[in-house]
Amino acid sequence: MPIDPLQDLYVHELQDNYSANSQMVKVVGELCEQASDEQLRRMLDTSVTKIKEHNERIAELVRAEGASPDEEHCKGMEGLVKEARKHGLQESYGDPAVQDAAIIAQMQRMTHYGICGIGCAKAFAQALGKTDAVRELDRDLGDIYAGDDYLTRIAETRVNEEASA
Ligand SMILES: [Fe+2]
Repeated sequence: MPIDPLQDLYVHELQDNYSANSQMVKVVGELCEQASDEQLRRMLDTSVTKIKEHNERIAELVRAEGASPDEEHCKGMEGLVKEARKHGLQESYGDPAVQDAAIIAQMQRMTHYGICGIGCAKAFAQALGKTDAVRELDRDLGDIYAGDDYLTRIAETRVNEEASA
């Protein structure tokens, strides 16, 4: 049976996610130190742990395909990390609530990129009939969606209001 070309795309997608997570985790730690809202700080701190866990699982999935996890460099996340540093860390807004709003905005950009990347990897795994991988990627995707919803809630119920006060 010929090798499914989708197989290569699946491994490549996982490697890209691995690179994206490795780059993202550092800046999330920095955003956490800069955040003022207690719930936001806790969320970002939990995210650091979760991203590391996700990446350990992604590395395992890549190795299970006979490849090495760190063979890709995700330029998309490289750009998002630069944006996060510029707008979330380096720019000073003179108001902790506005700073938090900026941090949430940057975190959600990176999160949405992650949803896209893991979502695609899951869809490829599904098409390839890799049911264990689908289950694992789906669990990670659930964590990321939940984190994103939580950020929206913090922003809409508190931070944005305080920022506009
Ligand atoms: Fe990428």
